[in-house]
Amino acid sequence: MYLEFLHHYSYADFYLPKNKGVYMPQQTTKTVTTFFGSARLNGKTGWLLDQVTASFNKHKDNDMAIRNIDLYDYKISPLSRSFIENKSEAPLDDDMKELIPMILTSKVILLATPIYWFTVSGIMKNFLDRWYDFSDERAKLNLDGKGLAVLTAHANPSSTMPFPVYKMMEEGANFLNMVYLGGADIITSAESGSNEYAISVKTAELLGKRITDFLRYSK
Ligand SMILES: Cc1cc2nc3c(=O)[nH]c(=O)nc-3n(C[C@H](O)[C@H](O)[C@H](O)COP(=O)(O)O)c2cc1C
Repeated sequence: MYLEFLHHYSYADFYLPKNKGVYMPQQTTKTVTTFFGSARLNGKTGWLLDQVTASFNKHKDNDMAIRNIDLYDYKISPLSRSFIENKSEAPLDDDMKELIPMILTSKVILLATPIYWFTVSGIMKNFLDRWYDFSDERAKLNLDGKGLAVLTAHANPSSTMPFPVYKMMEEGANFLNMVYLGGADIITSAESGSNEYAISVKTAELLGKRITDFLRYSK
């Protein structure tokens, strides 16, 4: 419904100041959107996302829905230098104009990323950086009260490897007035039957359930 509303606007209109502050449509549905940012389609990040999705589907009410978005299906340019230097110009005309309405019409955003270079993947980082395009006074990306969760996969057997990413997501959620719902993790080498594998399965199950609880009890 909101997507249809947005289609009535040209790309330029989308960014033009109407009133100061928020004018973008806000979601009212109990939708979770997952954004997948692994270069490997069927790797461990995808496996973990499947676990959380299955748990969500097991625990959800009829009015709850999940949609899975693969960031690799979209063109996401790095933050534009000229836009940063001159905020009066329109942001880049790439596929962020399709992705932003998906965020706005969701109650929970679930980011699924491998650990690359001790942090989120490049495509995920570009995606997050580009939220900035929508966060100024003209076109405020109002995420107040939405939930944010993160999934990670990494090769290093240390279970503390993704902690900086959890910290980053928690700080980001606080900054944006979102509710940080936590994360789940898988170590690449974890085999079925191992403790690490069992912990990942359980954490994913709990996160899927926590997301449905959040949707159930939040407005
Ligand atoms: C470019 C690159 C950088 C990586 N950096 C790290 C790292 O800093 N720490 C780590 O534990 N694993 C690192 N890895 C390993 C991946 O996190 C691991 O293989 C993970 O399972 C990839 O996700 P996938 O299974 O969805 O492909 C890196 C892999 C790549 C390709």
